[in-house]
Amino acid sequence: TIADMKGLKKGTLKLAVVTTAKYFAPRLLGPFCQRYPGIDVSLKVSNRERVLERLAENQDDLYILGQPPEELDAVAEPFLENPLVVLAPANHPLVGRKIPLARLAEEPFLMREPGSGTRKALERLFAAHGLALKVRMELGSNEAIKQAIVGGLGVSVLSRHTLALDAPMGQLAVLDVEGFPIPRHWYVAYPAGKQLSVVARTFLDYLKQAPKHVSEVPCHHASVGECPLLPEP
Ligand code: PGA
Repeated sequence: TIADMKGLKKGTLKLAVVTTAKYFAPRLLGPFCQRYPGIDVSLKVSNRERVLERLAENQDDLYILGQPPEELDAVAEPFLENPLVVLAPANHPLVGRKIPLARLAEEPFLMREPGSGTRKALERLFAAHGLALKVRMELGSNEAIKQAIVGGLGVSVLSRHTLALDAPMGQLAVLDVEGFPIPRHWYVAYPAGKQLSVVARTFLDYLKQAPKHVSEVPCHHASVGECPLLPEP
């Protein structure tokens, strides 16, 4: 339409995203908001369980999460890779070695809270191998977990996206563990049968080009010698 061509789309876009999506969603929104200055965005950040509750209650336009909703009738489309990696302090003795999963199981773990999709993926991997996790501490935030790793409290499994921008520089290392990285994707979802607004449809189309938009974002990451937002080589 002519309104499209002139960039005159107007309205509000309500998004709910899981905690790890906060590392890239706001930056994806930058170019989008520039292109569509008439669109106001509200972004709600919570863990997987909360985001699913909001989806069930149809509280937002679109939802971003790390695994398609299983319990709900929803449309979900993958749009970006989301590998989960094992993080340890940079001076950990296992850095630079090839580590069997059973060896990792001996390490004390820093776990996300119940309801976290990251935690669920980790528990699933260990259960599939008949291994138990040694939980040292439970923390309700990716940031707190990174700080606790640096503090020497244990190791953890988090999305590689959590290494963007504000990661403690040079103090974290990614361990080379059998079965890792756990390959995952980010999904954009909405309730099946929902009539999307023009604004929501516009954002959905934009997201499908996400890898392109994300790799356009400058990356100042230095701690593990790679940009966590760029696709694997
Ligand atoms: P969460 O999100 O661990 O913050 O719930 C990640 C996911 O759902 O993959």
